[in-house]
Amino acid sequence: MKKIIVIFVVAAVSIFLSASDAVSLWSGLGVPPFPKKWRSFTHVKSMVIPDKNHGLYGFHHIYANKGSINTLKKGGSYPEGAEFVGVFYDVVTEKDGSITQGKKLFYVYMRKADAAKQTGGWHYAAYDPQGNYLKKDVKKECFECHIAAKDSDYIYSKFIE
Ligand code: HEC
Repeated sequence: MKKIIVIFVVAAVSIFLSASDAVSLWSGLGVPPFPKKWRSFTHVKSMVIPDKNHGLYGFHHIYANKGSINTLKKGGSYPEGAEFVGVFYDVVTEKDGSITQGKKLFYVYMRKADAAKQTGGWHYAAYDPQGNYLKKDVKKECFECHIAAKDSDYIYSKFIE
């Protein structure tokens, strides 16, 4: 009987912990919905990191929604609902030496929401190429690196005309 109670308590605590984790990361909205309209967002810039051992390996394209563009160009703090999407592709060097984008690797996503206090007022998420949510410790695996861009409200990208 004791064993059963212990198992029950462990299970209850772990369910509670994972639920509170999800709440703190996405303010009770559950799993962050995949930003389906990313292809109609404004292209901000692209970058290639060809070193497979680099944490940000890939051919990246960054996109921003309408609510982000003004701040991206002028600076300051982003309004609620501002969204950024980064799409990562494999780096393929062709026989003629040109470098092109290969298969899609994953998406990264940020959405401004003052409620996301633990991560600087932005929700962070990552998705596989089919748009399935990838479970991450976004505070450690995302936010802690974006802290270096605090002066531009945690956004690294600069708009390229
Ligand atoms: C090692 C540092 C680092 C980590 C870890 C990291 N990022 Fe970034 N992130 C960057 C840099 C640098 C850029 C700019 C990339 C570019 O210009 O192509 C960027 C760009 C972005 C962008 C486009 C907006 C912007 O800031 O330019 C989004 C969205 C984003 N990251 C989300 C995430 C998410 C979600 C995670 C965690 C799954 C994550 N990042 C982890 C460094 C990091």
